[in-house]
Amino acid sequence: MTIYLDNAATSFPKPEAVYQALDRFARQSLANPGRAGHKMALAAEHVLDEGRHLLNQFFHGNEPERFVFTLNCTDALNMAFKGVLAEGDHVITTNLEHNSVSRPLRALELAGHITLTRIPADSGGTIDPDDIRKAITPRTRLIALTHASNVLGTVQPIAEVGRLARKHDLLFLVDAAQTAGVVPIDIQEMNIDLLAAPGHKSLLGPTGTGFLYAGPRTQVAAWREGGTGGDSSSETQPRQMPYFLEGGTPNVLGVAGLNEGIRYVQQQGMENIHRHEVDLVERLWRKLEEMEGYEVFGHRDPGRRVGTLSFRSAVLPAAELGGILDHAFDIAIRPGLHCAPYIHRALNTAPEGTVRVSPGPFNTNDDIDRLAEALAEIAL
Ligand code: ALA
Repeated sequence: MTIYLDNAATSFPKPEAVYQALDRFARQSLANPGRAGHKMALAAEHVLDEGRHLLNQFFHGNEPERFVFTLNCTDALNMAFKGVLAEGDHVITTNLEHNSVSRPLRALELAGHITLTRIPADSGGTIDPDDIRKAITPRTRLIALTHASNVLGTVQPIAEVGRLARKHDLLFLVDAAQTAGVVPIDIQEMNIDLLAAPGHKSLLGPTGTGFLYAGPRTQVAAWREGGTGGDSSSETQPRQMPYFLEGGTPNVLGVAGLNEGIRYVQQQGMENIHRHEVDLVERLWRKLEEMEGYEVFGHRDPGRRVGTLSFRSAVLPAAELGGILDHAFDIAIRPGLHCAPYIHRALNTAPEGTVRVSPGPFNTNDDIDRLAEALAEIAL
């Protein structure tokens, strides 16, 4: 059985209740939500409503209708950037970002549509809000910040940046790909205008799920125009949220699974899951220190990180080490640049990158010990 330690890419396995919900919903209720008045269509619509209510409660949004279901976090981020930014806007972002933030913003910059400032993180992998403050200009419209680095696992001071954004009347976007479901996020308290997250990582839903929260200070332009089920006579996309941004048949099966994933996190307690994952990473860190030849990246304050650890071998390139762990030891990790080239360049780990280990709620001390034994054997 594979030891899966790549939960930062997608969580595996899912809670049993998620598998059961997917099976039950697919067999009994997989109709097209909102497209007809029959009982199965209503049951499908109910799953979407339930999901929006769960998300609104979990992240303390203004109202459930502001949660738009998307394919994944990338989809949500593209919807936000391309839907809110106007000609001449200045955007502040960071060198910790994943390509799902960096690439759409860089493309808008190259097209001459926006100007962009990329703030560097410190050597431990944290952004200083004061650097963001100094980068604000009269043209600044948006601050786009990851909540935690997908390479280093370092959590960013989003509450502080949110206060700064609101003080300067800027929009604040948070990429919660690595934190939604494992680190508390309070949309209202943290002054978040746009929150993008996947459903398939720490919220423990299936792939093909994600959401964008678009707060009352935002007006996101139409994204995928098409059928919404209601108001078929309108010649253009009906303005009513969330349907305005949800043209086409939604992934209602995925949302049925996601709802159970969120409930699982609520039952277990986010703090308990977080502590478990950070403890596993700390266990690995201690074992790596006892060996020769491995270098770990990022600060070590457990209160400001998630359960993601990046390291490299002094002798083996990350891809080779990842291949050996997979083929010889059946251990799944992610080597390389992790779709986050800017932070790897800053760490001097480009172009090979690092080996990233990211345990999930179902990993055990034994999984970490077996990984450590494998790494010790490889280092010999
Ligand atoms: N963004 C995901 C990762 O960091 C896929 O692995």
